[in-house]
Amino acid sequence: MKKMNLLKLFLIVSTLFTVSCAKTEEATVTPVTPAKLTYEANIKAIFVANCSPCHLAGGVKTNKWDDFATAKTNVTLILDRIQRDVTATGFMPKGKTTPVPATDIAKIKQWVADGLLEK
Ligand code: HEC
Repeated sequence: MKKMNLLKLFLIVSTLFTVSCAKTEEATVTPVTPAKLTYEANIKAIFVANCSPCHLAGGVKTNKWDDFATAKTNVTLILDRIQRDVTATGFMPKGKTTPVPATDIAKIKQWVADGLLEK
């Protein structure tokens, strides 16, 4: 009888231990906070890919989007132009028939929301 009680006690304790361990593990999982987007890591490449050669160093336009300060200052204008209809006056990238991919436009917006960080 005593042996049975000890066995039961052992089972209860080990079960509780397992449960409490599982709970602790669950509680310590930290939510993944997405890193803030930065010009160097996430944005510059979008301009290089879509706005070449006109708005890059050596291009015809004075505003160079491969320059952080210029891109940052003009981001509202940039967002306006790239979201116009492809057939509309002022649509950018000028001369192209396809817009900047929606995922890239979303990244530029997120960059603004994240505080226009350089790196
Ligand atoms: C083929 C050359 C060419 C390409 C490629 C091009 N642009 Fe332009 N962009 C121009 C010209 C020319 C103007 C001036 C005429 C006008 O305002 O429409 C201009 C004007 C602009 C302006 C208004 C401010 C300014 O500097 O005059 C913005 C903002 C702009 N472009 C953004 C972009 C972005 C962003 C891209 C890439 C997604 C891009 N452009 C691609 C030639 C280009």
